[in-house]
Amino acid sequence: MSIRTLDDLLAEGVSGRRVLVRADLNVPLDKQTGAISDDGRIRAVLPTLGALVEAGAKVVVCSHLGRPKGTPDPQFSLSPVAARLGELLGAPVRFATDTVGDSARSTVADLADGQVALLENLRFNAGETSKDEAERGAFADQLAAFGDAYVDDAFGAVHRKHASVYDVPARLPHVAGRLVLREVEVLSKLTSEPERPYVVVLGGSKVSDKLAVIEALLPTVDRLLIGGGMCFTFLKAQGLEVGTSLLEKDMVETCRNLLERSEGKIMLPVDVVVADAFAPDAAHDTVRVDGIPSHRLGLDVGPETVAGFAAALSQAKTIFWNGPMGVFEMAAFAAGTRGIAEAITKADAFSVVGGGDSAAAVRALGLDESSFGHISTGGGASLEYLEGKTLPGIAALEN
Ligand code: 3PG
Ligand code: MG
Repeated sequence: MSIRTLDDLLAEGVSGRRVLVRADLNVPLDKQTGAISDDGRIRAVLPTLGALVEAGAKVVVCSHLGRPKGTPDPQFSLSPVAARLGELLGAPVRFATDTVGDSARSTVADLADGQVALLENLRFNAGETSKDEAERGAFADQLAAFGDAYVDDAFGAVHRKHASVYDVPARLPHVAGRLVLREVEVLSKLTSEPERPYVVVLGGSKVSDKLAVIEALLPTVDRLLIGGGMCFTFLKAQGLEVGTSLLEKDMVETCRNLLERSEGKIMLPVDVVVADAFAPDAAHDTVRVDGIPSHRLGLDVGPETVAGFAAALSQAKTIFWNGPMGVFEMAAFAAGTRGIAEAITKADAFSVVGGGDSAAAVRALGLDESSFGHISTGGGASLEYLEGKTLPGIAALEN
């Protein structure tokens, strides 16, 4: 990979220089309180920020949070993230209440060497995500004015052709941060020469989101274990009734076709936990997949499925996991995800967890993060990497 790195930039000397860092601080917020419910993505960027602070740079951090529609929306303010970032860095982070306006300009101008500022949510500006090159470019010009150099450490956003990811590096000397480098290094191990057996576990709600990665992985993997909401469309494709479970009707034929072509590599659940309603206290039972009642919906995989998947995982030398097996946020439907996560930690394999939800599940279930080989900060980004797609953020660093 012909990409310059943070170490190259540090070797040039950054003391007194303004370094614009694109981070992915898109953390989950508690729906009721608005508090940060998982700060993994903030922690993940600390090595890069710490190195820049230590080297005496004026560090200007920018990020998106959620999906505001190109205009300020207080529920998506990065203000709580600035506070948390300051706690983790052990020094206050100056927060600009706009992204490229008066507050941002004065905040950046007032930065002392070794100080860190965070700009308000990039997506409060229509130019960030615009499909119009000129509109994106105009916003990128304003952002680029805040830096003498640019560091991309936003792995979770490298698949987005957005101004801060794609257009700013065309305007400034640019390097990859520590997180981006580590992520690419790990994921490239999975695509180049994975030690076998290579077992992939996919979950989450939608087949349509995972279709491209399934297509790309099928020829490469030894086994593909499918759980989560998306398994019901596959079960339907096998001719089973799935009650009121999540079902993508227009994907049934595609799933049937995938199953036919999979040479037996795809493993589906044999039992599921079905409930009366999508609610934490809903009445529920475990049933065989050929006995799902017409009025109930599946919210987790069952114990026999966990045992079967765990047996496959115990043989693996390389594991990639993306997507929960059930609605793990509700205790009654968390056993499948927990069981699979535990099986992965027990396997004598190099394991990679991809996807914000699976990473959050690992932490929410109280599992030891260090028992996984790597927990990716990128959901869509890690999937698109494995699909072999060109990632705009990485391509921009290569130029
Ligand atoms: C993510 O959470 O997947 C990344 O932060 C990218 O966010 P996006 O899907 O809203 O572009
Ligand atoms: Mg996403």
